[in-house]
Amino acid sequence: MSAAIHIQSISKSFGSLKALDQVSFTVNQGEFFALLGPNGAGKTTLISILAGLTRADSGHIQVMGHDVVSDYRHARRAIGVVPQELVFDPFFTVRETLVFQSGYFGLKHNDAWVDELLENLGLTSKANVNMRSLSGGMKRRVLVAQALVHKPPVIVLDEPTAGVDVELRQSLWEFIQRLNREGHTIVLTTHYLEEAETLCNRIAMMKQGRILALDDKTHFLNKTGKRELHLRLDSAELPEQLRSRCKSQDKDTFHFTLDNLGELEDIMSLVRMAGRQIKDISLPEASLEDAFVRLMQESQS
Ligand SMILES: Nc1ncnc2c1ncn2[C@@H]1O[C@H](COP(=O)(O)OP(=O)(O)OP(=O)(O)O)[C@@H](O)[C@H]1O
Ligand SMILES: [Mg+2]
Repeated sequence: MSAAIHIQSISKSFGSLKALDQVSFTVNQGEFFALLGPNGAGKTTLISILAGLTRADSGHIQVMGHDVVSDYRHARRAIGVVPQELVFDPFFTVRETLVFQSGYFGLKHNDAWVDELLENLGLTSKANVNMRSLSGGMKRRVLVAQALVHKPPVIVLDEPTAGVDVELRQSLWEFIQRLNREGHTIVLTTHYLEEAETLCNRIAMMKQGRILALDDKTHFLNKTGKRELHLRLDSAELPEQLRSRCKSQDKDTFHFTLDNLGELEDIMSLVRMAGRQIKDISLPEASLEDAFVRLMQESQS
């Protein structure tokens, strides 16, 4: 089985700026994959090469086994991209936009699927409204529908939830998760890291045109994650041996940052040896945001 997306040594410069520097990775069929990185990391540039809208300076990309340059037509059919920028024809209604896009793929009898898209994206009541009179969030819903008219096996969403209200966010993710369960491969970029944390199985982190890390979500959360420990003791005094490790204190609660979980045992035994009692303990789950911030900081040094 071919990979959903196979990216080999892609580089792209704009003048002297290296927007992408030897980027390589593979997204397998059926994955829910996150591409994360700060503003200007190169995510949109990579997606536009993937969609055949921009040419790379070097390297190759295949979508479902089709080269995006030499086999553009098949590659284009295999992918649906929700662009970051709101681009649309203001004179068409919502339905016309979707019917027109279906025609682009030679789909003449697509009404049932267009209706389903309208329904699932909360657009049914706007079907006959002109694009120019829609709100920003509604326009974004149409962009999502437009990317899906040809039921592409690979769906790429470039910040689909920017400026989108909570309700649509939830219904959009339910719909995209359903498509994923039905076998569609999903690639998502977002600055809402909790979305990536909830939805995705595998995560690539980019910065300045390079992939800094790529791994299963669970590895990110365990591997790169230092953990915060909050310990409430029987009094506001910390045993002598722990003072150098303690980061801060609120009354009888002491905050520590653990490099690994082994340190937890050390701290507990020091508390025990000092003859003190633990009243409460919490060790919040490592978040993707922690891992992200740490990785971005480390890459500066
Ligand atoms: N057409 C262009 N001409 C010149 N520079 C460009 C062009 N497109 C992108 N860039 C530059 O390439 C770099 C990568 O941009 P890109 O839009 O891919 O980043 P991004 O990761 O999508 O960021 P964001 O999170 O803000 O969407 C940026 O420094 C950007 O200014
Ligand atoms: Mg972008």
